[in-house]
Amino acid sequence: MHIDLLSPASFSNGHPHEQYRWLRENAPVYWHDEPGGRGFWAVTRFDDVRAMGRDPETFSSEPTIMIADPADGGMAFGGDHKMMLMMDPPQHTAFRRLISREFTQAPAALLRPRVEALAKQIVDAVIERGECDFVADIAGEMPSYVIAELMGIPLDDGRKLYQLTETIHSAAEAVPVGAQAAAVMEMFMYAQRVIAEKRARPADDLSSKILAAEVDGRKLDDLDFQLFFLLLVDAGGDTTRNLVAAGLLALLENPAALAQLRASVDTMLPAARDELLRWVSPVIYMRRTAKRDTEIAGQKIREGDKVVRYFGAANFDERRFDDPYRLDLTRSPNMHIAFGAGAHVCLGQHIARVEIDALLREVLMRMHDIELAQPAEWLASNFISGPKRMPVRFRPASVSAR
Ligand code: HEM
Repeated sequence: MHIDLLSPASFSNGHPHEQYRWLRENAPVYWHDEPGGRGFWAVTRFDDVRAMGRDPETFSSEPTIMIADPADGGMAFGGDHKMMLMMDPPQHTAFRRLISREFTQAPAALLRPRVEALAKQIVDAVIERGECDFVADIAGEMPSYVIAELMGIPLDDGRKLYQLTETIHSAAEAVPVGAQAAAVMEMFMYAQRVIAEKRARPADDLSSKILAAEVDGRKLDDLDFQLFFLLLVDAGGDTTRNLVAAGLLALLENPAALAQLRASVDTMLPAARDELLRWVSPVIYMRRTAKRDTEIAGQKIREGDKVVRYFGAANFDERRFDDPYRLDLTRSPNMHIAFGAGAHVCLGQHIARVEIDALLREVLMRMHDIELAQPAEWLASNFISGPKRMPVRFRPASVSAR
């Protein structure tokens, strides 16, 4: 079996399930060469991927969670500033605590009416047209609005920021030279304007709360804020979008499941949405770096080695999921790991579920006879999985969902 988990081509039609299956069976901790880099271990079984997330003492998120090392060999953003996603305890614990209250189930539930109204507005905008690009016009609209709402910035700006995240997440060779650095820079400059605005006029939003926060008696500075901002815009944007778009694609490919879900959307949606999360696994991997010599599934790992957790591979592990290649919208239990596991488990997962439910319900109830107008075009990325463009045709349902 030819294994290549670096080339975007391997992900150009969704997860490379044949490679994953071979790896889980034959080399669950596989040494993967890396042109221009020092190579890494690819971990593909569910139990190992989960256990690594729960052991930040051994498997560090520093200096980065991306496979490529930071260019300067140090921290991703220089000095002691970095994104929470790339911190270890106790620093990570302190930063996460600053905002975690805003992301529990209760505040997410409070967002529901607003998110449902946004879902309705998003579908209203295309429904009479009878066709649209499902990725840009529907799935991509929601997360950018929600992040804008949380951070207290204009909804239209949220949409522009979302376009920047798409550039940042693309494979380097898929975008013009320098485009990714320029996109990060633009995001930082935007965050700088938010700082000025929220310092002058603090409001009841997450931006103002982060700006007022202290860690170990030290107020967060501008760079801390910019990194929080980049993380939140980045983490909550194309992940949710890809789940909704690739989730609909999976339903279109399984018409019986789609019909079943449409017929009893209220009762089926929670389990169906979690099965779609397992199926789509929008985040392909998160890297860790071994802080000491250790072992995974009998394989010796040396201090400093890069070890990469593959979520899509873990979510199809036969050892944990019955008949994993069957889309089973009633799967129960479903302990998928699409949101990761352990210290860094997705902070936005409750909000993501609210967004996904609102959008899927609105789409399924109001857009009937949906079909692809052209084949979906996949994102050129080995990090985030999902369609980039998905032209669809549909007809408005004669009776509205509400
Ligand atoms: C379907 C949608 C989403 C998926 C699949 C997803 C997946 C993930 C994954 C895999 C991680 C890393 C977990 C680990 O290392 O074990 C993560 C972290 C994170 N996610 Fe999400 N995410 C989604 C939506 C969101 C949303 C909507 C937000 C914000 C509103 C968000 C905010 C974050 C943050 C802040 C972290 C970093 C947590 C930390 O470092 O402690 N995510 N997410």
